[in-house]
Amino acid sequence: MTNGWDESASGWIADIGEEGDFGRKFVLDAPMMERLLDKGFRSALDVGCGEGRFCRMLGTKGIKAVGIDPTEALIRHARMQDPDGDYRIGRAEALEFPDASFDLVVSYLSLVDIPDIKTGIAEMVRVLKWGGALLIANLTSFNTAGQPEGWTKDPDGTPRFAIDHYMEERAEWVRWRGIRVQTWHRPLSSYMSVLLDLGLELRHFSEPMPNPSADPLRSELHRRVPYFLIMEWQKPAILPT
Ligand SMILES: C[S@@+](CC[C@H](N)C(=O)[O-])C[C@H]1O[C@@H](n2cnc3c(N)ncnc32)[C@H](O)[C@@H]1O
Repeated sequence: MTNGWDESASGWIADIGEEGDFGRKFVLDAPMMERLLDKGFRSALDVGCGEGRFCRMLGTKGIKAVGIDPTEALIRHARMQDPDGDYRIGRAEALEFPDASFDLVVSYLSLVDIPDIKTGIAEMVRVLKWGGALLIANLTSFNTAGQPEGWTKDPDGTPRFAIDHYMEERAEWVRWRGIRVQTWHRPLSSYMSVLLDLGLELRHFSEPMPNPSADPLRSELHRRVPYFLIMEWQKPAILPT
C-alpha cells in the first residue's frame, strides 16, 4: 500500500525549495549543523534523504554523504540538483551497505515516516562505525499525538492543539500544502527503548526553538506545543564483550 510519498513528491519539492520549510530553515538546520562541528566526520549516510538538501549541506562541510530514500521522484530530483552526489533508492529497514561503513548516520525528520523503526534503527546502527554518531531530528511524540487534526480553533477563535491517545502507536494520514502522506505516531518511549536496547549512548538532547528571525506568530505556536527534538547517539567505540 502506498504511503503517499510518490504522489506527494512534487508538492514536497516545491514546499522545501532550496532553503527548506519553516521547521528546517528557522528551527532545525542550525542546531543540526552545529552537531557536526569539530567531530571530524568524513562520511555520512542520510536515511530518508528526500530530495537531498541535507546531503548537500553536509557536502559544504567536506562530509561525503550518501542519501537513501524509497521515493524515486525525490531521488531523481536529488541527483539532478547534485550530479556528483551519491543518491540511491532504498529503505531504512534494508540498507545495502556493509557493517561499520559510516562515521555519521543522519535521520532528518524521517523516523516518523519509517514503518518499522526497530529494524530501521538497527540497520542505521549496523552501518555506523564503532564510535560513530547517529544524529536524529524528529517530530516530538507530543506533536504527532495531535495528528491528524493538528491545530484547530475554539469557537472564540483561540488556536488549540489537542493531544490524545498518546500511548497508542498508529499511522495517520496527514495533509499540508499539496502533500498528503502517512506518518507514524509513537510514544517517545518506543523510540528511546529501541535506541537504548541497541547499546547506544545519548550524547545530546534538545528541543530547539525557532531562531529570532522567524515569524513571531509561528514562533508562538512552537512555544505552546513542542514540535521538534534533536538527539545525538553514539555507538560505543569498543565492541561490547
Ligand atoms: C519528512 S521527509 C524528510 C526528507 C528529508 N530528510 C528532509 O529533511 O528534507 C521523510 C522521508 O522519508 C522517506 N521514507 C519513507 N519511508 C521510508 C523508509 N522506510 N525508509 C527510509 N525513508 C523513508 C520519504 O520518502 C521521505 O523522503
